[in-house]
Amino acid sequence: MINGSKVLDHPIRWAMVGGGKGSQIGYIHRSAALRDNNFQLVAGAFDINPERGMAFAAELGVAPDRCYPDYKTMFEEEAKREDGIEAVSIATPNGMHYTVCKAALEAGLHVVCEKPLCFTSEEAEELVALAKEKNRVVGVTYGYSGHQMIQQARQMIQHGDLGDIRVINMSFAFGGYNYKIEETNPAAKWRFDPTKAGPSFALGDVGTHPLFIIEAMIPDMKIDNLMCTKDSFVEGRELEDNAFVIMRLKGSKSVQEGAKVYCWASSINCGARHGHKIRVVGSKASIEWDDERPNQMTYEIEGEPVRTLERGAGYLYPEARVEDRIGGGHAEGLFEAWANLYRRFAVAMDAANNGEEYGDFWYPNVESGAQGVKWIEKCVESANNGACWVDYE
Ligand SMILES: NC(=O)c1ccc[n+]([C@@H]2O[C@H](COP(=O)([O-])OP(=O)(O)OC[C@H]3O[C@@H](n4cnc5c(N)ncnc54)[C@H](O)[C@@H]3O)[C@@H](O)[C@H]2O)c1
Repeated sequence: MINGSKVLDHPIRWAMVGGGKGSQIGYIHRSAALRDNNFQLVAGAFDINPERGMAFAAELGVAPDRCYPDYKTMFEEEAKREDGIEAVSIATPNGMHYTVCKAALEAGLHVVCEKPLCFTSEEAEELVALAKEKNRVVGVTYGYSGHQMIQQARQMIQHGDLGDIRVINMSFAFGGYNYKIEETNPAAKWRFDPTKAGPSFALGDVGTHPLFIIEAMIPDMKIDNLMCTKDSFVEGRELEDNAFVIMRLKGSKSVQEGAKVYCWASSINCGARHGHKIRVVGSKASIEWDDERPNQMTYEIEGEPVRTLERGAGYLYPEARVEDRIGGGHAEGLFEAWANLYRRFAVAMDAANNGEEYGDFWYPNVESGAQGVKWIEKCVESANNGACWVDYE
């Protein structure tokens, strides 16, 4: 159970690049990082507009001499201080992730980076190698994976409760982009600009979330090949607003050879909120999880009534109760899921500083980020070649 007690000698001196006033994702980064006293916000370059960013930093309580106009100045100035930053979170539009992440690693900082980690596999491999060389942690905020029921699913699959995995049916198909929202909403506008968003919209913006969740649920899962078809249903969009992907999996301890994964990534699912659901079908039973009801998961054993497993309950595997913050029956949500990940990032960063192993837990790391980038690349390759099957390795 997490109760806020100290896990590090001192809170990690932490800054943000991006996540400025009015940004969609900035506040949940701060809320998650600061929740358990493992990080202390001491500096920031929060905005593309330097004046607005510095003013916002001051509003957040950052000392005036540590409110910076841009990330380069921040990294340079902080390196001169004895109490300089030790870690930075990157919450800018996608196009800046690679550049800022690389600069941060070169400056010897730990990083928490938004997804997608970067645009190409070459860039991703460079970041993986640099993080290793510098012995720095790169956490990637696949935030939904911090929900406790994801841990439960992972344990159930590892213990063979579902039998061999045969089918995974998943979606992140939200609504609201069924008209030209980008004409009035700046946060939607950059998402359809390939120079700022990368080679995809729906696949990278939302498809990578369920992809990482199934990787977390099934650590021995390996994609053999995949096919993808994508469309821009709203006229004039350079990037897709809807995509379908079918993946064939290799056989492994928990996966039957030839198992299939179906993924629907969309922004034009009229009437839906998130539409982010994952159903894992095994040879004995199935589980299903929905991010809008994250405290529950259905467990369906062939021939028996459907069960609804509840977060915090005594019958869950112990690993699914480690990050319980308040007893079962109380709703925990996305803010807690993110705080769980930030807590794991902090422990991993501290272990790296001390040359220790960080213990028996996982988190979305630089390799997970690289995997997402590769998946987008392969999907785009398939879609651009008439939805052909593309080998994954
Ligand atoms: N993990 C998740 O669940 C999740 C959810 C939403 C968004 N995201 C990701 O978070 C990132 C930001 O998305 P958003 O929706 O918050 O975007 P947004 O457009 O709402 O906000 C972007 C922020 O970054 C700032 N910024 C832009 N360029 C900058 C620069 N060079 N230096 C400093 N600040 C800069 C902007 O001023 C703004 O404050 C994207 O990569 C997106 O994919 C992740």
